[in-house]
Amino acid sequence: MKVAHNFNAGPCVLPKPALKAAIEALNDYKGTGMSVIEVSHRSKEWEATMEECRALWKELLNIPEGYHVLFLGGGASMQFLYVAMNLLENKAGYLETGVWAKKALKEAKGLGNAFAVASSADKNFSYIPKGYEIPKDLDYFHITTNNTIYGTEIHEDMDCPVNLVADMSSDIMSRPVDVSKYAMIYGGAQKNVGPAGVTFVIIREDILGKVTRYLPTMLDYRTHIKEQSMFNTPPVFSIFVMTETLKWVKSIGGLNAIYKINKEKAALLYNEIDRNKMFVGTAAKEDRSLMNICFVMAEEYKDKEEAFMAFAKEKGMVGIKGHRSVGGFRASVYNACPVESIKALVACMQEFEKLNS
Ligand SMILES: Cc1ncc(COP(=O)(O)O)c(C=O)c1O
Repeated sequence: MKVAHNFNAGPCVLPKPALKAAIEALNDYKGTGMSVIEVSHRSKEWEATMEECRALWKELLNIPEGYHVLFLGGGASMQFLYVAMNLLENKAGYLETGVWAKKALKEAKGLGNAFAVASSADKNFSYIPKGYEIPKDLDYFHITTNNTIYGTEIHEDMDCPVNLVADMSSDIMSRPVDVSKYAMIYGGAQKNVGPAGVTFVIIREDILGKVTRYLPTMLDYRTHIKEQSMFNTPPVFSIFVMTETLKWVKSIGGLNAIYKINKEKAALLYNEIDRNKMFVGTAAKEDRSLMNICFVMAEEYKDKEEAFMAFAKEKGMVGIKGHRSVGGFRASVYNACPVESIKALVACMQEFEKLNS
């Protein structure tokens, strides 16, 4: 079987044991004689899977009392709207660190007074703004902890004087998180926690019920809290694979272990980018993401970009083309990306340097 070195930004590489369990469950789910996508979502077998998934989230992230874990549809993009619908009454502040943050802000602006507290647009989002002040009269402050397109990441759980809301689509479960510092955390599953189709939401219940606007039933978090994410038919297959993905995270030692591995994996590639005279990293060093590693050809070798892309492709690298707003290359090295793939990319860069400089 052909195995690619998969550096796709999402959907992306998933843990092999999760894929194996998914294949088995597609054939026969928990001995029911039915596929996981054929059983009723009201069956006791399915309810047990939902409960297991919720319990894994709570255990791995050490989620305190007072928070709920929801599994919804619509992707992180739908959450941009949900957040503003449910939380914006007077004023909301956003940290503008890229395209996704801007899209989140756009939805809030459509509903009320929302603005960027700080932005890194001046340098094409290549760094995380610092030294800004968060107004104390905000309903919430919204951050994107990992900027998938630009390869920047907020590495610490910040102290925030108002409710802190975080889009963690592309770095959830990559490191331990102090959930108590956040009022809400959300993201699409399709990077570190499963396939596309399910969106996770971790929310502190006491922040809800404070807005005066009409909330459509489906867009009211309280509906999904009350119905345990089963108000409508949940995306069963995605949730099943998410459960298996989280079991895998637990099996390798949880978030402390995975964080250590992620730091080591990212260092391998960043060290090569810094050493190799043909390549340059695009993100500010102190803000470099552990998940999405962005780099371009050095000025002197700009004309070699296509040649490197072809060379890397020939060696089995998949998904290393940078996003069009940054150019160059991006290697997404999520939890399930094996260190062997990163070593293969590093070897490829070294060989290319030998042949071309
Ligand atoms: C940080 C971030 N937020 C939001 C999104 C949008 O997610 P979705 O496609 O689930 O709407 C993405 C997608 O890549 C992302 O990286």
